[in-house]
Amino acid sequence: KSTYSVAELYEKKPIGEFVTLSGWVRTFRSNRFISLNDGSTVSNFQCVLDYEKFDDTLLKKINTGTCLTLKGKIAESPGKGQPIEMLVESVEILGESDPEKYPLQPKKHSLEFLREIAHLRPRTSTFGAVFRVRHHLAYAIHDFFNRNGFFYIHSPIITASDAEGAGELFNVSTLDKKNIPLTEGGEVDFSKDFFGKEANLTVSGQLEAELLAMGLGKVYTFGPTFRAENSNTTRHLAEFWMIEPEMAFYQLSDNMELAEEFLKYIISYALEKASEDLRFLDQRLADEEKSKPTDQRSMPLLEKLHFVLENPFARITYTDAIDILLNSSYHRKKKFQFPVEWGIDLQSEHERYLVEKHFKTPVIITDYPAAIKAFYMRLNEDEKTVRAMDILVPGIGEIVGGSQREERYDVLLQKIKQFGISEHSLWWYLDTRKFGTCPHSGFGLGFERLVQFVTGMSNIRDVIPFPRTPGNCEF
Ligand code: 4AD
Ligand code: MG
Repeated sequence: KSTYSVAELYEKKPIGEFVTLSGWVRTFRSNRFISLNDGSTVSNFQCVLDYEKFDDTLLKKINTGTCLTLKGKIAESPGKGQPIEMLVESVEILGESDPEKYPLQPKKHSLEFLREIAHLRPRTSTFGAVFRVRHHLAYAIHDFFNRNGFFYIHSPIITASDAEGAGELFNVSTLDKKNIPLTEGGEVDFSKDFFGKEANLTVSGQLEAELLAMGLGKVYTFGPTFRAENSNTTRHLAEFWMIEPEMAFYQLSDNMELAEEFLKYIISYALEKASEDLRFLDQRLADEEKSKPTDQRSMPLLEKLHFVLENPFARITYTDAIDILLNSSYHRKKKFQFPVEWGIDLQSEHERYLVEKHFKTPVIITDYPAAIKAFYMRLNEDEKTVRAMDILVPGIGEIVGGSQREERYDVLLQKIKQFGISEHSLWWYLDTRKFGTCPHSGFGLGFERLVQFVTGMSNIRDVIPFPRTPGNCEF
């Protein structure tokens, strides 16, 4: 083998070997040193060129952004920055790049600017690192479930139900806009629709995962989900990926245990497989934090990840969480924008107080008021709260939402009616409670929020290659 990636060259260090290497030029210094990156690792590779051996027209084509294939011998590098380098013998230009026009200059660009050139940002060190970490996390997730007897199932993207009942649906219009069939009364005739009913992009694969769990035992989904929520925040996307395990015979406590073990497994996997990228991101965050006052700086990235691995998650009920908030100096000094009282939906400022100021570790909050959670959560004996669990982490807030499910037919039916959901539309879901029902539980992990947590990126738009947010569908 003589063709290598940069990662392979650094790993194997084939000194003395004649090799082929392709990639994009990061910098070309003194007509002599090409710093090449091919995306296989965050590190660039130094390629040294004797300019007297190459003609000027070729040298002029080597610019930041140029794509090329180099052939030459690998040698120990006398320079300080790298252990090995290539002594270039031939240069083939694959794609030129006009240095006057190329948007990525060899300097630090702001993340805001890079978002506007999302088609080119994978060529930067930061985004290369983020997307490689994203890959390792996805792989770790499948690995964890596979090792633990779970089956990967595929829930539909197009569905007729609103699993969360929040009405944040992207309607899938299957009618030809120009030829919308109308009824005699002049209304749109949905009986002529493709599915014979209204359909939307899924907000969650949970309901379908429950059906599968009640046949296969332990299952999980890992797919895109869609929410038409008009919130422009650093942690909401209109299209995000969600991991939803669902387990028959699991109580809420089993669910919590699984979620904690799961999160720790994937974080430790990333620390092992993406150590170089995480070191780079740790440094990036440290540089960014320098501009903040010391008391507002967050814990260094790697320290935070190790801390999370080494400490148990805190566990409290919603009622206790409200008590903590009510007894906090923030409440007394009226620092919360949203007033605290039992029954409120915890706002991000409350979540962040609990996790960053009070516990300083990830927190699992359980037993929320029934009225603020979805219809499918199991009602507690107090008939006021449900067996819900949210996991909050520092810097992000909610990363996981889950629950034990209501497995009792009568209670579920009553809940569906109470929430104003048409029981007819969920006949298949109710059926599982009629025939061989069983206690079961599950949760949903927002993949991008996990990637944010592990990479330290503060905006969710910077952890998915092509973010979908209100008004943003360019790339
Ligand atoms: O809390 P959510 O809405 O729960 C569900 O969808 C359940 N069906 C999950 C289950 O029990 N199977 O969403 C789960 C997680 C959240 O904790 C959050 O991490 C993420 O999905 N999430 C979002 N991530 C990015 N953008 C959004 N708009 C998100 N909405 C939820
Ligand atoms: Mg939630």
